[in-house]
Amino acid sequence: MMKIGALTGGGDCPGLNAVIRAVVRTNANRGGTTIGFLEGWRGLIEKNCIELTAEGTDDIIARGGTILGSSRTNPFKDRTTVDSVIETIRATEIDALIAIGGDDTLGVAHRLNADHGINTIGVPKTIDNDLSSTDVTFGFDTSINVVMEAVDRLRTTAESHRRVMVIETMGRHAGWITCFSGISTAADYFLIPEEKPDLDYMCNLLKQRREAGKMYGIVIVSEGVELPQIDGFVTQDTEVDEFGHVKLGGVGEIIAELIEQRTGIETRVVTLGHLQRGGAPSAYDRVLGTRLGVHAARLAHEGQFGQMVSLRGTRITSVELGDVVGEMRTLEPEFMEEAREFFT
Ligand code: F6P
Repeated sequence: MMKIGALTGGGDCPGLNAVIRAVVRTNANRGGTTIGFLEGWRGLIEKNCIELTAEGTDDIIARGGTILGSSRTNPFKDRTTVDSVIETIRATEIDALIAIGGDDTLGVAHRLNADHGINTIGVPKTIDNDLSSTDVTFGFDTSINVVMEAVDRLRTTAESHRRVMVIETMGRHAGWITCFSGISTAADYFLIPEEKPDLDYMCNLLKQRREAGKMYGIVIVSEGVELPQIDGFVTQDTEVDEFGHVKLGGVGEIIAELIEQRTGIETRVVTLGHLQRGGAPSAYDRVLGTRLGVHAARLAHEGQFGQMVSLRGTRITSVELGDVVGEMRTLEPEFMEEAREFFT
């Protein structure tokens, strides 16, 4: 009888509970039992886990976030915490560990497998859609729909007050969220981290459109856009997390101020922040999360470890964790090329 442990690490995202449910059910169908470690890798360091049953997890698919909790804990920061993780795996007698997370979580899963022989399997997640070796990550679809709805609402105020509305989005150093929400809301302009911002072009475009009769403007800005004025991206403070990541945020304010100064048009900024990660998952994310969870549990039963489940086209396949981690997938250039047709 197989015993699987599961954890969710990094920023939460809609669809995590769908994966958990699918892992538990697929494992139970094969006579296995599942435990969930709480708050990411911290749960393994502190031996904090709960039993998960098919009955108990059946309706969690509709809930956002993760029933297991999450954290950005990095067990490899310290030798003693790695030892604690390995000791917990031994003590709980799990045969396989399914780590559901982004690049950092998957990196830990890879090192545990490659350096310590632990039977890990990865499931890719992030609203940022920036993981390599998978076509789409679950969470992204829900997130762009949240941004789309917010921008649709902000448009009415922008229009009534003849303002420019700047919307700052998440996505770290990849422009997926911005580009997809920008296209879907007919934004006048958007700025992504993959491109050097042409602020003169943007301001002229906003002025031209106003002169031509469109009295309001919508500009979407990725949190990770790098500005020449400050020689890099904007951060909230100087702190970094256990994986060395800064907290991005604040570029929207700077862009809004600049637009107002250069165009003379009243401009406001809205930072969508964690709204983009919250709430119930879309149908797409529920289905993708479920499919990835089913295949992750199947891999465990087949004894295929050191792998990450992945979406290729419409099929779920798997790739070596070692080939995936540390590789960021930025926005593919053709999306911006197509979007640029609307920046004239
Ligand atoms: O990676 C997901 C993400 O939401 C990024 O888009 C964002 O930069 C970051 O996490 C925010 O993290 P936190 O929840 O720790 O502030």
